[in-house]
Amino acid sequence: MTSAFGKVILLGEHAVVHGHPALAAAIGRRIALRWERRPSGPITLAIPRWRVAVATGDAHPLADALAELARRTGCDQLSLALDAQAELPPAAGLGSSAALMVALTRALAAAAGRRLAAGEVDAIAGAGEHFFHANPSGVDVALAARGGAGLYRRGAGLQPVRAAPLRLAIGLSGEPRRTADMVARVAAELEREPSRTAAGLDEMGRAAQGAAEAWVLGRMDDIGRRMARAQEILAGLGLSTRAIDDMVDAATRAGATGTKLTGAGGGGAVIALAPGREEDVVAAWRALGREAFTAMAGLPAGQPPDEPPDEAIDEPAEEIQT
Ligand code: MEV
Repeated sequence: MTSAFGKVILLGEHAVVHGHPALAAAIGRRIALRWERRPSGPITLAIPRWRVAVATGDAHPLADALAELARRTGCDQLSLALDAQAELPPAAGLGSSAALMVALTRALAAAAGRRLAAGEVDAIAGAGEHFFHANPSGVDVALAARGGAGLYRRGAGLQPVRAAPLRLAIGLSGEPRRTADMVARVAAELEREPSRTAAGLDEMGRAAQGAAEAWVLGRMDDIGRRMARAQEILAGLGLSTRAIDDMVDAATRAGATGTKLTGAGGGGAVIALAPGREEDVVAAWRALGREAFTAMAGLPAGQPPDEPPDEAIDEPAEEIQT
């Protein structure tokens, strides 16, 4: 079996696309994959929790990604059946597609009898990500492959942040969205209002750097303040939604020191830092009708999930979106 982590971006989403650092952490929810050889036929992939099943040759972006990964790992001539257990919801900003691409890369390499270096896993899984998201920064794949926490910068890769894992409340706004659309929205804002948008991205990148230092020192209030400010900037870029705003307000009333969208925005997941009050935030979100759970962020690679998946992830996905 192979597996890979989901992730949260604590600070710096979108900024990271434009060369600034992002502070990201793996969460204790993964995508795990079993594979077996078959006598003949295409390579198949089933993800029952997402109600998705594809085979190489199908007209589906996931089938195209699967074929590309098979080619790059050298097992495109093999007949394989892959079965994924997804502990992450699709299209929610929690790195589900990157985790799937990393777990697939590892499974296909194992089937081909190859051992891949970490950089090779990133490169191959990253090529798969391109089928869902035209211009990925690489942060999701880096965390999916390595676990832990780190400051990620395009080109420079992941610089690990060695700090105690922290517990977050994570809620799902329930609004599907495409990362590519949100990345395009920020690019349009950069055209329309270059100096204001660039300043916002720069501030979020600096906040990521500062929060990494605060995390090492255990200054959670500092991280919370930076998260709250980042949410204002992200909202100013048109990336928040009414549902996210309501979740931010509810989390703040429930004791969170910092609450923000995570990932591309426009829907998807919301994270709250609320030391000792995480369950209150989860209860407040559930009272709004949102799926919510707590998760440890920054778990080292190899550590098992900190809690079993719940119903929140058991949702259909017509198409994998990131
Ligand atoms: C990553 O989860 C979200 C974005 O920063 C896109 C990227 O880094 O590729 C918006």
